[in-house]
Formats: sequence, structure tokens, C-alpha cells
Amino acid sequence: MSVDTALGSEWKTVRFEVLEKTESLPSLSIVVSEFLVLARRDFFTAKDFETVISKDQALVARLLKVANSGLYGRSRSITTIPEAVVLIGVDNLKKIVYAVSSEGLTRQSLDNYDYHPNQGFWLHSMGVGFATKVLVEASSRCPLNGEEGFVAGLLHDVGKLVIDEFLPSGKARGVSREEEKEAVGLDHGELGEYILKQWNLPSSISTTVRYHHDHSPAGEMAGGAAALALAEGICATWELGKRIPMNLSQEVPYEQFQVLMDFLAIDASKWDQVIWDIRQSLVGLDEAFADE
Ligand SMILES: [Fe+2]
Ligand SMILES: [Fe+2]
Repeated sequence: MSVDTALGSEWKTVRFEVLEKTESLPSLSIVVSEFLVLARRDFFTAKDFETVISKDQALVARLLKVANSGLYGRSRSITTIPEAVVLIGVDNLKKIVYAVSSEGLTRQSLDNYDYHPNQGFWLHSMGVGFATKVLVEASSRCPLNGEEGFVAGLLHDVGKLVIDEFLPSGKARGVSREEEKEAVGLDHGELGEYILKQWNLPSSISTTVRYHHDHSPAGEMAGGAAALALAEGICATWELGKRIPMNLSQEVPYEQFQVLMDFLAIDASKWDQVIWDIRQSLVGLDEAFADE
């Protein structure tokens, strides 16, 4: 696909080396897009799950390693995918699959952004993924399903991995979207959209990622982008990825996020439940999957 048709005229300002750099990112496992297709079906079996995941043997090995980690507290070891499905459950396994499939990307550290040097970017990506999943499931106005929400959240800042290389080097700090545009001609949402399209992820996800800092021009994906923005805001309250351990006890003020909640048509009365669900999905994340 040509750059112009994929992304519009703003791409004329993008430096060639930037696009070249996107090619050298670790690729996302094919299993991710196949899982998203499965998730759109009303019904699928453990066998379907196994068929898809078997296409990536490195992923199977990592999945079993994580499934056997302390996280799941099993007394006997799990050696096959069908066993893992029975003992851990498809829902949990899928989360591990997404986490493991993307770790080549999210485990990287960024020199110029202010994530914690020890896996801060990974924590931020995972946390926003979990939070987005909760929010899209709570919203009646969001075009994404829970899994698409999770993947959008997990990969929402992937553009930063490329932009980081082109920023004037300095100490880790917050980098504005204007600074990003100055450095490479695009902000990380726009570049993220390009990268996700290269990986053939559905446009519902790539468009959501593009607009996660400004949902109003996102058209029919505005609900997804707003959910992602809200997830990001909530996670920022807990300093997810900036500080380890994260600060989950910090109260999240509804008033600060009311506009996004209204946009997503999530009633104010659901706020406490939503925050509870997000907290529950994040508890222990700084230890979970960290089985290296
Ligand atoms: Fe983010
Ligand atoms: Fe972002």
C-alpha cells in the first residue's frame, strides 16, 4: 500500500527513515489478528483456540511458561494447550496470548519518554489495554468489542517506539505531540495507525489508536477513541508505567472524566463499578507475566 493512499496528504512531510524504521519493529504475531477474527464469532471451541495458536510455536512455548508461572498457582505443570485451556480458562489464556504476542514491542524501553526504565512502557501498555476492555464493555456507544478494546489499548502508543529514535536525545520526560510532529512529521497516534495497518489489524483498531488523544474527528470510531482516552486518563491517575509499584489506591475523581463518561453513555452511577473492575484487572500486573 502506498503511503499516500494509506494515510493522506500529511504523510508527505514524513521522513523516509521514519517509515523505514517502522519496518524494523519486531512484528506482531499473526495469532493476534486471527484471535480478533475468532472473537467476532458468537461461539468457538477450545479446539479453534488451539488451531490458531499452534501457528506460532514460539508463542506456545512462552504461553506454557507463563501459564506455569506463580501467577496461576497450579500444583502440577501444564504441558499442552488443551490442558492450559481447561486449567486457566480461555479468557485468561487469551490475555496471556495478547501480552506475550506483543512483548517484543512493549518490553522495549524508551530513551526520551518518561516511562519507568524497568518495564514502564510494558506496564502502561498492558494497563491501558485492560482498562479499555472494561470501558468498551461498559459503554453502549462503543463500536469495539472487549478484545478489540484490549488490543487497541495494548498497542495505542506503539508509534512512540519509532519516534523515540528521532527525538533530540535528552533525559526521560513528557514529550508533547507537537514535539513529535516537529521531529518526524506525525504524532504517535498517527504513526501508530500506520504501523497497525501494516500489520493488517482491523481499521476499527487502527483508527481508534490514531485518535486516542482527540476523539472528535474519529467518525464512527469516536467511541473507541474516547474509551481509550478515558482508560489512559484513569491509568495516569495511578501513575501506571511511570512509577513502580503503581499507585492503585489513589482515588479517581469522576468530575475529571465526566465528559468522556457522558460521551461513552456510561451512567455516572456505574463509575464506582467501572473503577473497581479496572482496579481488579490491574492488581498484581507489575508482577504478573514478569516471569523472566
Ligand atoms: Fe499512552
Ligand atoms: Fe498516547
